[in-house]
Amino acid sequence: MSHFAVPRPTSQDRGRAAPEPAQAAAPVIRLRDVVFGYSPDRDVLRGVSLEIQAGEAVGLVGANGSGKTTLLHLLSGLLAPRSGSVEVLGKARRPKDFDEILGRVGLLFQDSDDQLFCPTVAEDVAFGPLNQGRSRREVAELVTRTLEELGLRGYENRVTYRLSGGEKRLVALATVLAMEPAALLLDEPTSGLDEAAAERVVSVLTRLPQAKLIVSHDRPLLRRICRRLVALEDGRLREVREF
Ligand SMILES: Nc1ncnc2c1ncn2[C@@H]1O[C@H](COP(=O)(O)OP(=O)(O)OP(=O)(O)O)[C@@H](O)[C@H]1O
Ligand SMILES: [Mg+2]
Repeated sequence: MSHFAVPRPTSQDRGRAAPEPAQAAAPVIRLRDVVFGYSPDRDVLRGVSLEIQAGEAVGLVGANGSGKTTLLHLLSGLLAPRSGSVEVLGKARRPKDFDEILGRVGLLFQDSDDQLFCPTVAEDVAFGPLNQGRSRREVAELVTRTLEELGLRGYENRVTYRLSGGEKRLVALATVLAMEPAALLLDEPTSGLDEAAAERVVSVLTRLPQAKLIVSHDRPLLRRICRRLVALEDGRLREVREF
């Protein structure tokens, strides 16, 4: 059984009630009244609240410049809110133990060049899991499996910076998935991908059990992976009902 093949609701389950958890666990992601601006005179986020439960996949849409990437960066600890709170896996952003939690949040950067920094594909994909303290043998298997799932068999020794844009996108996604994070924050995971590659990504993502927040301009694609859609507009987040 592949490491991705954990049972989870598929797009065919849409509309069915989710099973009740045995007890109410803390949401995987909780934002409360988050305000953030890169400069004091212009707020990008003007009071954003969001909760994502374990196993839930949420699509995030919004116009260019509406703050989607900013929101993911706040959730992955790259940015700090001016006010409001950010909680991931039940831990608030301020205490030190948030650092530990951040290792369990996988962020796919919008620009793959921000993600990839090793000379070869295999080294890039192995970097995270090796850092997590997993054995070389285990990581070697994980790298092979992850690349295969994404249609990248044989790419192990390719030079990362010479890959095409779409190839880089897939390798960047592989580096995130190989870490098997508890939550996935994916910034336009299928941008620049051809149809077959995008299909593979959708199929991998629908099988993954983790909580996900997925930014995309492709609503039909989001509809296949997510049961819930939120939209950023004028610095605020709203649930999209007709999804
Ligand atoms: N490092 C930065 N310094 C200053 N302003 C920034 C910075 N990064 C983003 N911004 C601004 O913040 C706003 C939100 O940007 P963000 O990248 O979050 O938008 P987005 O919704 O992800 O857009 P896109 O759909 O184009 O990716 C934009 O107006 C952008 O110009
Ligand atoms: Mg963006």
